[in-house]
Amino acid sequence: MCGIIGAIANANVVPVLLEGLQRLEYRGYDSAGLVVTDSGLKRLRTPGRVNDLSKLVEQQKTQGVAGIANTRWATHGEPSERNAHPHFSAEEPLIAIVHNGIIENHEHIRNYLKDKGYIFLSDTDTEVIAHLIALKLKEVNDLFKAVCLATAELQGAYAIAVMEEAHQESIVVARHGAPLLLGVGKDGNYVASDASALLQVTRDIIYLEDGDIAVLSNHGYRIVNCLNSQFGEPVNRIVHESHLSNEEIGLGSYSHYMQKEIFEQPIAVANTLEMLSNAQSIAPNLFGSEAEKIFSETRQILILACGTSYHAGLVARYWLETVAGLPCNVEIASEYRYRDPIADPNTLVVGISQSGETADTLAALEYAKRLGYRHSLAICNVPESALIRQSELRFLTRAGPEIGVASTKAFTTQLASLLLLTVTLAKMRNRLSPEAEQRMLEALRHLPVALQNALKIEPEVKIWAQSFAQKHHALFLGRGVHYPIAMEGALKLKEISYIHAEAYAAGELKHGPLALVDSDMPVVAIAPNDQLLGKLKSNLQEVYARGGELYVFADADSQITSNDNLHVIRLSEHAGLLSPILHTIPLQLLAYHVALVKGTDVDKPRNLAKAVTVE
Ligand code: F6R
Repeated sequence: MCGIIGAIANANVVPVLLEGLQRLEYRGYDSAGLVVTDSGLKRLRTPGRVNDLSKLVEQQKTQGVAGIANTRWATHGEPSERNAHPHFSAEEPLIAIVHNGIIENHEHIRNYLKDKGYIFLSDTDTEVIAHLIALKLKEVNDLFKAVCLATAELQGAYAIAVMEEAHQESIVVARHGAPLLLGVGKDGNYVASDASALLQVTRDIIYLEDGDIAVLSNHGYRIVNCLNSQFGEPVNRIVHESHLSNEEIGLGSYSHYMQKEIFEQPIAVANTLEMLSNAQSIAPNLFGSEAEKIFSETRQILILACGTSYHAGLVARYWLETVAGLPCNVEIASEYRYRDPIADPNTLVVGISQSGETADTLAALEYAKRLGYRHSLAICNVPESALIRQSELRFLTRAGPEIGVASTKAFTTQLASLLLLTVTLAKMRNRLSPEAEQRMLEALRHLPVALQNALKIEPEVKIWAQSFAQKHHALFLGRGVHYPIAMEGALKLKEISYIHAEAYAAGELKHGPLALVDSDMPVVAIAPNDQLLGKLKSNLQEVYARGGELYVFADADSQITSNDNLHVIRLSEHAGLLSPILHTIPLQLLAYHVALVKGTDVDKPRNLAKAVTVE
């Protein structure tokens, strides 16, 4: 899950590499490094972050007209300078490489190379690729051919950029299973893991495909695809104009990306549901031209996702069962891919992912297809992602780039999309009267305003955050469709404030976790005025009676009043099917403000990275 960038131009590219790495840092921030042409290949690496690398560059006045760089999320080998990219082949001919991905057969290749006398200076799988390319280079004396031959032996996922000391006029790049795109500039050519890193120099972007290997020089590029031949067939890849704006990828007046993304939710949801603004009715073709046919055959839904996206799937299960009358299974992708489930071909497999790059979700979807599932739908935030390309039907959550590692606006836009999917399926299954359809359209159009109102509770949440920040553990309770929202609240809190938090279906409390309740264990409850409110109130009494301190997010009409050990923040009146989406907001705000009080690195929490492209 590293971020990689490369540049070759007519002028010094070091500022481009550093600026690009800053943009890619969300992909990993365990170490940073670069190599540039400087008579030989000059390498700078730091176990710190991109800012530390910039300081090194300044101290050493590093410049060069070609270079490659990496910001790392450690997989093989601890975060350290020794394991930081770029890696060199230790022997002549000297090459340098940066890599994003994971090489599954690295152990086997390492042993083979050790037998040949190669010495390894790091614990990374990347150094294995460096030596393998160097070995091939000795044989064929051409870096492009050497990369073709070496990558043919790799199993796993990689996006790499490679430079050779003896031929500094080109950079060779290759991709398989990890994102990589070229930037075509006026005065040079570029490569990066994502477009945001290249906007500083160009908007002309080429998305490489699996098996593509490209050679970049300062005046051009050449792409071949090596899936079916040793040294590749030339391919034409379309140049896309990126419409990402600097506002979308910048912080603006906010202190953190997470804060910005929480407050962007009304507009993110409005953009996602824009097609409904003048619609008289809900139509299946919103999900793709084949959707009507596929939906009419759909008898069951299988949702595959990880983390926050999995929580979105859990909410959708309630909606799909209740509103559309469809049986629905929701599976953690990393578990599903190693089970032996029985495929029903009339099931629609729905992959949910912000990044569309999550290795487990992609693998689970491929596995489902192999098992015999025929139809798939991606709900995803990244148009050019692997998930979108692997799925038959697609629906884009138009949340814009999500840069904070903790997912916020991606989640609420996923929920909005899943509710739209539910209503579409319900209509096709004759479970939605024309009046109910109009009411749903109205509710969905009103959602951005409802989210805006929900954000107004921030000052009250801030006060709670002060006492929360002193705690070491917390319980989150919800019932029914709000139980996954409690799970999401607990995930957000632990992720960015490092407070241990667990979510329980409130009815489960008395079956064990109630033993944990004492005055040191804050209990957060989501208490909407739905049909389970009475049951939930009884569960809250069980906590209260045992001296537990309750923090309740209630609807305005939930009739729960604050008391000594019972703190209540009210949202608007009960919002029906939209309620779980609105109840997400206070939990995001709580996690954010607790993290602020604790002084953690909100956007880059320890040990984590965005886009989990490894297993
Ligand atoms: C939590 C979070 C992660 C992601 C998970 C899946 O805040 O961001 O749990 O939700 O890694 O990522 P995507 O949605 O990109 O597949």
